[in-house]
Amino acid sequence: MMKLLLINAEQIVTINTNGKNEKRRGELDQLDVLTDHSIFIEDGKIKDMIPNSSLGKYETIEKIDLKNKIILPGLVECHTHTAFAGSRADEFRQKLSGIHYEEIAKKGGGILTTVKAVRETPLHTLAEIMKPRIEDFIKQGVTTLEIKSGYGLDFENEIKLLNAIKIIDELHAIDIVSTFLGAHTYPHEYKLDHQSYINEIVDKMLPYIAKNKLAEFCDAFCEATAFSSEEIKIIFSKAKELGLGIKLHTDQFNSIGGIDSAIKYNAVSVDHLEVLQDSDLNKLSDQNIVCDLLPGVSFFLNYQYAPARKLIDSGALVALSTDYNPGSSHINNLHLIMSLAALKMGMTIEETISAVTINAARSLNRSNSAGSIEIGKDADFAVFNTKEYSDIVYNVGKNLNCMTIKRGRVIYQSDMKMTI
Ligand code: NIG
Ligand code: FE
Repeated sequence: MMKLLLINAEQIVTINTNGKNEKRRGELDQLDVLTDHSIFIEDGKIKDMIPNSSLGKYETIEKIDLKNKIILPGLVECHTHTAFAGSRADEFRQKLSGIHYEEIAKKGGGILTTVKAVRETPLHTLAEIMKPRIEDFIKQGVTTLEIKSGYGLDFENEIKLLNAIKIIDELHAIDIVSTFLGAHTYPHEYKLDHQSYINEIVDKMLPYIAKNKLAEFCDAFCEATAFSSEEIKIIFSKAKELGLGIKLHTDQFNSIGGIDSAIKYNAVSVDHLEVLQDSDLNKLSDQNIVCDLLPGVSFFLNYQYAPARKLIDSGALVALSTDYNPGSSHINNLHLIMSLAALKMGMTIEETISAVTINAARSLNRSNSAGSIEIGKDADFAVFNTKEYSDIVYNVGKNLNCMTIKRGRVIYQSDMKMTI
């Protein structure tokens, strides 16, 4: 039996949910911070939080001294497109000169530029390209990471992306959650024949993916340049029948009925919501659907932010994520996203922390095992080199994480050595 104690931390930010495994309204602002406590880990699980005054009987157990440091639950990154090849720096230049992201997409660039690069990249090269990106997330304290396909857009290449994600999952100690995003946009070969591509997804891709357990969720992009809400319903209906969870990119630039489709198919999350209408916002209050907000997109594309404050105040479940991808948020820094959410969306420091832990775990159906430091959950932790948790959000763009622990095992420790 593997036993371990994490001792002497200045703060243990538990994100205690009293067993509810989610936070909304005022609870999102309550982190529940323990001082003068140690965490007792057994067999990769959180066994107890012990007052330091009663540590005596644990004398013989292996300890990690976290003096001058703080402990948070392992961070959960719930929405990324980490499985991509190529670069869109040229399109970034175009955007800087004033050309709109949607305009680039309409001309056949955008997502389709990355599709071309992915189709030209063999499976193992793709996995190699992804490795350092995963390591970047681990170095930030991420212990659960979602990755979508969506840049293959035909059977062979969507399956290749999901297999690359599987290779990466087997290689790393953190949990990788795989999402099928075949309905990201129409590939050029089906530009004028949407129905045939939908048939390809429904008749070929989804059954193969479900049979081979290559994805846990089915996602889609409900947008004027991508899929209509009616087209999405056909795909979700099949995905649900096959037992996949549902997620939806919606209300990024246009509000075209995505929220209703997501609710109809019991989606676990709706993601983006930059142009969310009040009438749709009301449908998300006090519901079981998580709103994954992606302020990196608004920052990167320089347009409006999702109505985080309104959503939180109305009782919606709010999570935060980087949406790391090559086109709309080439940002893989989750701490920066927390700072953006505080500075640009009016979220409190505490709310941003709840949104990248328990609610992000909720968005991946992992909230009963991850996202908070509660007895019985996985011993996943992010240790920060500071005495006070506000510093994580206050130090904009800086990585204060110095240790990442997955199921009781240290999987990353920063090397402070420097040769001058
Ligand atoms: O979440 N909205 C659609 N998909 C991605 C962007 C993909 C891309 O531009 O490559 C997003 O923003
Ligand atoms: Fe996305």
